[in-house]
Amino acid sequence: MTSAPEADWRLFRGDGTPRAVTLPSAPPWRRFTPDRAVRPELPYLIEPLHADVVNAALHLRRPLLVTGPAGTGKSSLAKAVAHELNLGELLRWPVNSRSAVREALYQYDAIGRLRETTLSRDRGEREPSIGTFVRLGPLGTALVPSVVPRALLIDEMDKGDVDLPNDLLTVFEEGVFEIPELSRLPEEFADVEVQTADHRGAVRVHHGLVQCAEFPVVVITSNGERDFPPAFLRRCVRLGLNVPDEERLRAIVAAHLGEDALREADDLLEAFLRRRAPGELATDQLLNAVFLRTSGVDLDAEGLLDAVLHQLTGAM
Ligand SMILES: Nc1ncnc2c1ncn2[C@@H]1O[C@H](COP(=O)(O)OP(=O)(O)OP(=O)(O)O)[C@@H](O)[C@H]1O
Ligand SMILES: [Mg+2]
Repeated sequence: MTSAPEADWRLFRGDGTPRAVTLPSAPPWRRFTPDRAVRPELPYLIEPLHADVVNAALHLRRPLLVTGPAGTGKSSLAKAVAHELNLGELLRWPVNSRSAVREALYQYDAIGRLRETTLSRDRGEREPSIGTFVRLGPLGTALVPSVVPRALLIDEMDKGDVDLPNDLLTVFEEGVFEIPELSRLPEEFADVEVQTADHRGAVRVHHGLVQCAEFPVVVITSNGERDFPPAFLRRCVRLGLNVPDEERLRAIVAAHLGEDALREADDLLEAFLRRRAPGELATDQLLNAVFLRTSGVDLDAEGLLDAVLHQLTGAM
């Protein structure tokens, strides 16, 4: 007796038999090629009122503080703004418990400089410039004067140290920072070329001071794990994103995966809405479910839909 043929989408079967498989195309939002021409720009849908809050921040040259449950499009908003306003590559500062403002501004590799300087002297070569060992971080790079302001995402700020928001106040207010390792150099070294956090190459720093010409377009995201001090909140424009309603969910699915995929997805949308309480399911979980269906995956297979639309809160 031969067993029933396995469906094509079952790449892994757990039968221990090695086989050649070709992975099908990844969902557009899980493609990692650095080539922008190949990587599709993901659609972003926003309510007009929310778009106007973004506009208020742009007009006021203030950071936009975006809060809301997981998967409501907080981080993607920064990308959407940078893309739509042609602000170039989005600078990203992913915050964690060890993040410090100093490091997001610049890093100085003193040990590397000592080593390289000694090596050059031994070889009778010219010592490398100190600027080779100074690299601006994402925040520092965003403050470099440029014709068009840079876009910066400070992602998951609530995961940072309790002092982080206060440490940012001066930078947000003055748009300037100092690199003491450069400002204390003699006058003949007043101009130093330093490295940046992106691919635009080195930039010249005068007397160790970086002063923005236009305040960058800053988007700060938070899942609300920590409250921020009033002095910090005062300097931001706040946008609270909430979970999208059914109509918006349909629009998001259609924009990502097409009208055909949406037409086949009524039951998935229903299951998603039934299971969802605020903060318990994220929009991209619905996208995942619809994508799996378009790939021929049998979502009725036992427990599979539960695995895709799993709750984001509570014990496993
Ligand atoms: N308004 C939207 N328009 C289009 N796509 C959206 C929208 N909201 C969410 N998505 C989809 O959901 C995915 C998750 O969004 P994103 O990573 O921006 O959420 P988040 O709010 O930053 O979540 P987290 O708090 O977990 O970091 C995005 O990659 C995008 O595909
Ligand atoms: Mg995010």
